Amino acid sequence: MKKFYALAVIPVCILSFVSCFGTSAQTTNTPLTNTPPTPTTPTTNTPSAYNTLWIPPLLEGTTTAAGTSYNLTLAKSTKKMLIGTATPTYGYNGSDFWGPTVILKKGQNVTLNVTNKLSEDTTTHWHGLHLPAEMDGGPMQVIAPNATWSPKFTVMNTASTYWYHPHMHTKTMEQMALGAGGLIIVQDDAESVLALPRTYGVDDIPLVLTSRTFKADNQISTTTIYGDNLLTNGILNAQTTLPAQVVRLRLLNTETERAYNLGFADGRTFQVIGSDGGLLNAPAPVTRVVMLPGERYEILVNLSSDAVGSSLELKSYNGGQEFGFPGGEPADSGAFGSKLNNKTFQVLHINVGKATANAITSIPSKLLDNTYLTEAEATNSRTIAITDKGPGTPFTFNNMGYMMDMINQTITLGTVEKWSIVNGPTFGHSFHIHDVQFKITSRSSGPISAAESGWKDTFYIHRNETVRFVAKFSDFASNTNAFMYHCHMANHEDEGLMGQFLVVAK
Ligand code: C2O
Ligand code: CU
Repeated sequence: MKKFYALAVIPVCILSFVSCFGTSAQTTNTPLTNTPPTPTTPTTNTPSAYNTLWIPPLLEGTTTAAGTSYNLTLAKSTKKMLIGTATPTYGYNGSDFWGPTVILKKGQNVTLNVTNKLSEDTTTHWHGLHLPAEMDGGPMQVIAPNATWSPKFTVMNTASTYWYHPHMHTKTMEQMALGAGGLIIVQDDAESVLALPRTYGVDDIPLVLTSRTFKADNQISTTTIYGDNLLTNGILNAQTTLPAQVVRLRLLNTETERAYNLGFADGRTFQVIGSDGGLLNAPAPVTRVVMLPGERYEILVNLSSDAVGSSLELKSYNGGQEFGFPGGEPADSGAFGSKLNNKTFQVLHINVGKATANAITSIPSKLLDNTYLTEAEATNSRTIAITDKGPGTPFTFNNMGYMMDMINQTITLGTVEKWSIVNGPTFGHSFHIHDVQFKITSRSSGPISAAESGWKDTFYIHRNETVRFVAKFSDFASNTNAFMYHCHMANHEDEGLMGQFLVVAK
């Protein structure tokens, strides 16, 4: 099977500059290195017309015998997000709102030099990566203005879509609202031999979804929980042209709090091929995928029988959701209101263009042979409750808000643990844990979907639900540097729905 895929993919590598990542023989074919960002200018603020989708540039780093190094500089910027005054934003490497896509290869030794050119403290966290706690960019690894922080680590994760973002305690929501963040694509040999689309920006498209409300002068309201305007890669009313073949969309929900229930307006089936921490064993056919803040899914959409010149709509079907679905609240204004709440809204207008040479035209039936952890392997269990003191009070874990000098959990290195996260009746949340990729083993609300059956680091926990997962805490022990677990709704995290754990040597 593998051999067949390898043979099938070679011609794509030869004929396309950017299609082949991953194996050493292919790394010479990636001249898109460190391309400068392309500025975008909106032509419309109205949903009846479209603006061109922006694709974040790639950042592939500089390789020497010592490893590969990357430079990321976070600075104030402006971006034309609406017609009229440019919007003040934060961006990495001059990309105005949302940073370059960092390409990492499994096994590579990397140094990421992050320079803070803001006038306030920040941190940069590598969401989903397995690395030592002091390299993780959590609230303790503060980068002062004008300072450079240079974490070094070996890339241990498998191929998937990860991301980086500020994790400055009490400032995460605001810094992310201004646009600080970027994608990380990890490549490895197991993924690169599969017959999957991987020409970045052509048939392999990053889609970073969020929403913002604009104040007078087109300024972003950094205190708004649910924005009124959907932004796809920072673009309002985005459209793009995709070739009439199988295309791969790398979806990330980077909202403050809103969840998405994504699907196509024509009801077509698409395939989830990967979740937060890697590819699934086989594509999972779906018509909708629910994504909470912080979650990623890679999907394949087969456009091979769509007529060139036709179009399709990617939308979020957020109307009529259960109570507790974030963004399902009926109000269109007020603290938890938004013009996008409780309705279907547009995410991306896709025009179908001509197929590329060597297009992928069929969906592989099999991807990887993941062996997942089971509850039977767990030798320790813990239960963490999401608590509050009634509507309007801050959310906490086990009735305790986040305290930077408090270690909430201590785990012995090498242990397989079963965690039960228990939610109360108030609202849904997006539970996330650093350091590990886990396997969800049970949901008290019902079955685990095929899309959620792979490696995860973030999940939707419904009201009154208990979700169990199994994780192995290996490789990195420290008696002083903690990893975080928290709700990935930045407003909840900032108000204290966060805890920390040490992984200590036996
Ligand atoms: Cu995406 Cu603790 O973070
Ligand atoms: Cu929450």
